[in-house]
Amino acid sequence: MSQYSILITGGAGFIGSHVVRLFVNKYPHYRIYNLDKLTYAGNLENLKDIEQKSNYIFLHGDITDTAYIEKIFSEYQFQSIIHLAAESHVDRSIHNPMDFVFTNVVGTVNLLNAAKKIWNGHPPTGMRNLFYHISTDEVYGSLHSDDEYFTENTPYDPRSPYSASKASSDHFVRAYHNTYNLPIVISNCSNNYGPNQFPEKLIPLMINNIKNNKPLPVYGKGENVRDWLYVEDHAAAIDVVFHKGKIGETYNIGGHNEWKNIDLVHLLCKLMNRKLNRPEGTSEKLITFVPDRPGHDLRYAIDATKIKTELGWSPSLQFHEGIEKTINWYLENEDWLNHVTSGEYKNYYQKQYLNR
Ligand code: NAD
Ligand code: DAU
Repeated sequence: MSQYSILITGGAGFIGSHVVRLFVNKYPHYRIYNLDKLTYAGNLENLKDIEQKSNYIFLHGDITDTAYIEKIFSEYQFQSIIHLAAESHVDRSIHNPMDFVFTNVVGTVNLLNAAKKIWNGHPPTGMRNLFYHISTDEVYGSLHSDDEYFTENTPYDPRSPYSASKASSDHFVRAYHNTYNLPIVISNCSNNYGPNQFPEKLIPLMINNIKNNKPLPVYGKGENVRDWLYVEDHAAAIDVVFHKGKIGETYNIGGHNEWKNIDLVHLLCKLMNRKLNRPEGTSEKLITFVPDRPGHDLRYAIDATKIKTELGWSPSLQFHEGIEKTINWYLENEDWLNHVTSGEYKNYYQKQYLNR
């Protein structure tokens, strides 16, 4: 039997690189194709430990390019897709909403069309076909401090251009299931943290700025609440949903780990004072309150009961362990941090890799 071939999109990004690594190492009998445009957020350096594996293939391309997508689907006949490629940063979506419409909505519909075309036109191979869309808890909107958690039945109420684009892509994925019987599954996850996250997002930005004695910009009063999950736990959840999730279903994934931004920034300061041998209270002086993000969602919190009871997944790491590992990784990978922020090393590495 030929190898089961899975297309993972956005595999050079933060979460995608952890998913690609997990699948390439855990399933040597699968063929893993990683399709990535390598935007500012995508970096092949994230995958250098697995790039030589015989079951791993990198495809450099753009999910909004219909002709390219049709070509690779026809050539490689992917049996399943795990779709992570997206523009992912809320602040960027406020400045450039159209980029989010193209990649997150048009790109997703391009992939749906390509999957529909090859799966409807071919006899079953004996391995299941699945279009798995990786989505976010932000589609559910914003909670007040005493509201119940988001469940899979919470009505959609996206409030930023980013979450509106993700909600739209979720709707398209479900529409293709209802209309064309495309085998789909969706998961909606809370905030991820861990190694390889581009340092525009809260945790790596704060770690980098504390290290460099730069101001720590806290939006508004820092009262907003996020539910944090270690990225490898998210990758493990994706593995479980991919293999055991019921077609047509949605699964919420979360860490049951809510933090107010200001408390989290204080925790990072405290832990890093110790690691950098700074007197207590030193890094805290860098905290700077800045104007709030427009339309800033107050709180996200996920009820992950369904994935726990139906598929047996729950987070493996306590937050204090995860945050310790995360800080250590950024301190030990200073080159990665310097080079992704300057773009220099990324370009150097990618040119070398792509020109082989
Ligand atoms: P990221 O920004 O780190 O990575 C996105 C990847 O997609 C990059 O490698 C980028 O090069 C690639 N990409 C962007 N546009 C592309 C295009 N047009 N064609 C091909 N590739 C393209 O994102 P992330 O934080 O790893 O998020 C991955 C997915 O998970 C996204 O769909 C996001 O909405 C979702 N998600 C993220 C979080 C989180 O906390 N980061 C939480 C829940 C869900
Ligand atoms: O909930 C899942 C979502 O989490 C994902 O879908 C998104 O892709 C991901 O970016 C993340 O969105 P957030 O907007 O919650 O993440 P971010 O790291 O940008 O911000 C976290 C919180 O910290 C948020 O309340 C805004 C605040 N913040 C952020 C930055 C970058 C600050 O106070 N200062 C900052 O400089």
